[in-house]
Amino acid sequence: MTPQDRAKQHVGRAAVERYVRPGMLLGLGSGTTSHWFVRALGEAVADGLEVRGIPTSRSTEELARSLDVPLVGFDEIDRIELVVDGPDEVDHDGHMTKGGGACLLWERIVADAAERYLCVADTTKLVERLGAFPVPIEVVRHGWESTGRSVRRLLSHHGYPDAPITLRTKDGEPVVTDSGNLILDAALGSITDPLVLDRELNWIPGVVENGLFTGIADEVLFADPDGAITVM
Ligand code: 5RP
Repeated sequence: MTPQDRAKQHVGRAAVERYVRPGMLLGLGSGTTSHWFVRALGEAVADGLEVRGIPTSRSTEELARSLDVPLVGFDEIDRIELVVDGPDEVDHDGHMTKGGGACLLWERIVADAAERYLCVADTTKLVERLGAFPVPIEVVRHGWESTGRSVRRLLSHHGYPDAPITLRTKDGEPVVTDSGNLILDAALGSITDPLVLDRELNWIPGVVENGLFTGIADEVLFADPDGAITVM
C-alpha cells in the first residue's frame, strides 16, 4: 500500500470512529478515500452498529452491498444526517474540486440533501489554491461539443482563455457517468474565483454539474500516512 493509500485508510476509519453514531442516515461518498470509510463502516455494521446509507455512485452502492451496509433510496428518506466524501483538492476555506471519479452529480445531489458534510482527505489533497486538478464538468451528450464551446467562452470571460478543455476518455472511449452523461475536464491551473465559477458553470445549458464544490464542507478531516489526524 502506498503512503497516500495508508493515509486514506486512516482517515476513513477516523471518520467512522469520530462522527458516526447509531441510527444515523449517512451519505456514502465515492472514490478510494470514501471507499475506505465504507469499508470501516462495514466492519462496524458487522459488529452490530445500526446505520443506513445512501450511495453517491453505482461503485459505492456495490461496495456497500458487498459489506451488508443497509442502503435506502431517496423515496424512503427526508434529510441525510451526515455525508462523508473525499475531494480531489481542498483549499483552506474548505472549497473542493470533486469528480475525479466521474461521480460529481450524484455526490452533489446527496450533499444538497445533507445536514452536515464531512470532507475526508489525505494531507496531499490540501492546496493553497484549487486548479492544479482539472475541474470536471458533467454535460449531457446531446450537443456536448456546443456546450464545450459555451464553457470555453465562460472560462475566457473569467480569465482562462487558454485552459485546455478535454473530453474525458478511458481506453479510447468517452467516459459515461452513472447518469449517462459525459465529462469535460477543464485544466485551469490556478483558480482565483471558485465560488463564481461554481455558480456560473451550472448556468450553461447542457452542463449538468461541475466539480467545484464551494461552500459545502462543514468540516475537513485529514490524515497523514502515520495516522495523525487533523480537523479543519
Ligand atoms: C469521485 C470523486 C472522488 O471523491 C474524488 O475523485 C476523490 O477520489 P479519491 O478519494 O480516490 O482520491 O469526486 O467523483
